[in-house]
Order: sequence, then C-alpha cells, then structure tokens
Amino acid sequence: MRQPLSLVSWHHMPVTIAPSYRSSSEIVYRGCGIRELALLVLVLGSSMISANAALSELCWREISNINNEGPYIGVVVPNAFELNPLLHSPSFVPHNKFPFFDFAGKHFRIGVLEKKRVIVVMSGLGMLNAGLATQLLLTLFNVEGVLHHGIAGNANPKLQIGDVTIPQYWAHTGLWHWQRLGEVNGDFNTSFGNLKFANFNNDSNHFNSVTNLLNKVWYQPEEIFPVNGTPEVSHDIFWVPVDKTYFKIARNLKNVKLSSCVNKTCLPRKPIVVRVEKGVTANVFVDNKAYREFLNSKFDATPVDMESVAVALVCLQQNKPFIAIRSLSDLAGGGSALSNEVDVFASLASQNAVEVLIRFISLLK
Ligand SMILES: *[C@@H]1O[C@H](CO)[C@@H](O)[C@H](O)[C@H]1NC(C)=O
Ligand SMILES: *[C@@H]1O[C@H](CO)[C@@H](O)[C@H](O)[C@H]1NC(C)=O
Ligand SMILES: *[C@@H]1O[C@H](CO)[C@@H](O)[C@H](O)[C@H]1NC(C)=O
Repeated sequence: MRQPLSLVSWHHMPVTIAPSYRSSSEIVYRGCGIRELALLVLVLGSSMISANAALSELCWREISNINNEGPYIGVVVPNAFELNPLLHSPSFVPHNKFPFFDFAGKHFRIGVLEKKRVIVVMSGLGMLNAGLATQLLLTLFNVEGVLHHGIAGNANPKLQIGDVTIPQYWAHTGLWHWQRLGEVNGDFNTSFGNLKFANFNNDSNHFNSVTNLLNKVWYQPEEIFPVNGTPEVSHDIFWVPVDKTYFKIARNLKNVKLSSCVNKTCLPRKPIVVRVEKGVTANVFVDNKAYREFLNSKFDATPVDMESVAVALVCLQQNKPFIAIRSLSDLAGGGSALSNEVDVFASLASQNAVEVLIRFISLLK
C-alpha cells in the first residue's frame, strides 16, 4: 500500500466484523504464540512427529482441522482500508466453526469468497510484514495459491487514478549498491538501475558536469532459496514473474464494474482493468515526480508499491502460484496538485482492487 500520515489513523481503525464472526470459538483459537512459532519452524524441517510434541497439541489440532477442509486460496492484503471492502462484500462468508486463527500477531480469517475456500491475512505495511505474513500463511496452512491486492502509486502516464493494474513481473527496487565516488569497476551487479544523482541537478548550464557527492546507485537482484533447492544455496532474481495461468485468467477481467467517483469528485474517464508488464516495490513511499519518471523510464514500471514483490518472492521460493492486483490511488508525485492524491482516492482505489480480486477468484477452477 501507500501510507501517508493521513492514513495512519485508518490503519489503526478496528476492522468491523459481522456479528457471526465472533463466536464462542474465539477463545479456543487464541492459543498459539510466538514461542511455539520458533519451535514450529525448527521442527518442520525434521519431521512432523516431533513437531506434534513441540507445538501445543491444541494448536496443531486447530491447524489440522482448518487444513482438513483445504486447500485454500490465500489472500494477503497490506492494510485495514484495503481489507475492509473485502470483508464487507456479500461474496465473503466467514467459516461457521473456525472463522479465524490468530498467530504471531496475525489474524488469519477463514471463509469462502465466491464459493472458493480462502484464508485472508492482513500483513501490515512494507516488505518485512508482507513477507512474514506470506511465509506464515504458507507454513501453517494448506494453501494452493496466493492472491495479493491493494492500492499503489502510478508511474505510467498512459493510465489514470482508479485503474486496476495486474503486472506480469515485479521487482524489488530498494536493494541498493550505493557506489563510492570515483570508483570505475566495482564488485556488484550493474545490470539494473544506475540512478545517477548528477542527472537530477536543475542546472541547465552545467548539466551532468557538476559532481554530485551522492554519486550513483545500482539496483541489485534478490537472493532466493527455493523450497526444493539445496539449503543455503541461493539464486539471483530481479524480475519475479507472476503465475502464468493466473496471468492468463486475468485477461478476462476487463468488464468488471468499477467506481469512478468519490462523493462528487469524478475521474476523467471510467477506470479500466489492465494487465501491464511491470510493477515495482520498495520500502519507500514515492511522492516525487523525478523519481516516478525514473522508475517508469528505467524499469517500465506501472504500479509502485511497498509490499507486492515481498509476497511474490516468498511464493516463488515456496513454489506457489501468485498474482497481485493493484489499483492506482495516486500519481506517485507526478500530479500537479500540491499534495498527494491518495488522500481523496484511497477508498475508491481500495474498493476497485477488491472488485477485481472477487471477479478473479470467481474465475478460478
Ligand atoms: C529549474 O531551473 C530553471 C532555470 O533556472 C527554472 O526556471 C525552473 O523553475 C527550475 N525548476 C525547478 C523545479 O525548480
Ligand atoms: C545480475 O543479475 C541478473 C539477475 O539475477 C543476472 O542475470 C546477471 O547475470 C547478473 N550480472 C552479473 C554481472 O552478475
Ligand atoms: C465523502 O463523503 C463522506 C460522507 O460525507 C465523508 O465522510 C468522506 O470523508 C468523503 N470522502 C472524501 C474523500 O472526501
């Protein structure tokens, strides 16, 4: 998501939950804490039998009750205002016996969405939270694929606020090698990026000839450790592809009805759903015209967000199909207004992302 300060209060707003959601089972499902998690991770590597001994039996029973009804589609969503439209949708029905499972600070909601079994988890802001939530989801539960949705900044001048984008590739554009001044050849990857600060001096007379002490940044690929690979042996990856089948299915989302007005403020045209080539993620709220243009010209980026690639990388390592649906809430600094448009359009964009997610899930076999 995108998190300007004005949205922090939304983030902390309690999520409204339908009355049937809080049942007497609540107490039962609160047994599993972080201590057990550490053990779980340790023992899962060896054998399920010792895992039973280490993790409280109650937790295991609940997890296996949940998993017996799987497999599920996992849905990872950054923040409450992106989650709420999904919870309020009549297509979402919480499970009548185990509507949720709390673990390590996460609230895994179990139910059906468009008649498909789902486990929905709110990760929180940024890549660490998104990666952790996804890994927990895939470690604890019987999940066959992961959908991710939320809002994003838009770096693509051909699209507008309210449009819903589905990239084919995601990259982490925050893993940097910040090069020392004067170095010619360094021991790092020079395939991506090259953010040269001197290119951004607003000095028409001395363009490029002025030394900028910040020099240059090179964007580095991520190291991943595939679930079926040799432990501690990593592969490099910069562009992480989404699942091919999911991406094909996403072709059929064009006619989803999307809202185009917030109160009396309407968008210049009706929003569209569009598959795009590339999206980028970093732990950075981009609200800067020059950097927005750099992300678009260097990386061909359309949505710019703070979580998607973390979910993508975990799914890639765990060999699970993944796709992200990101609606555009603002221009990432490219607009003429003096403040970011997300203040006005976050609710519309969140709703639009959920509409597309719901249609997508209805198209799954
Ligand atoms: C950049 O420099 C030019 C020429 O000095 C000036 O007209 C323009 O306002 C400057 N742009 C910004 C964004 O400050
Ligand atoms: C840089 O990273 C990319 C992506 O992992 C890889 O294909 C390429 O070979 C790397 N280049 C060097 C010089 O290591
Ligand atoms: C739209 O109107 C509602 C109700 O008056 C108000 O609470 C909300 O803040 C408005 N939204 C925006 C983005 O102005």
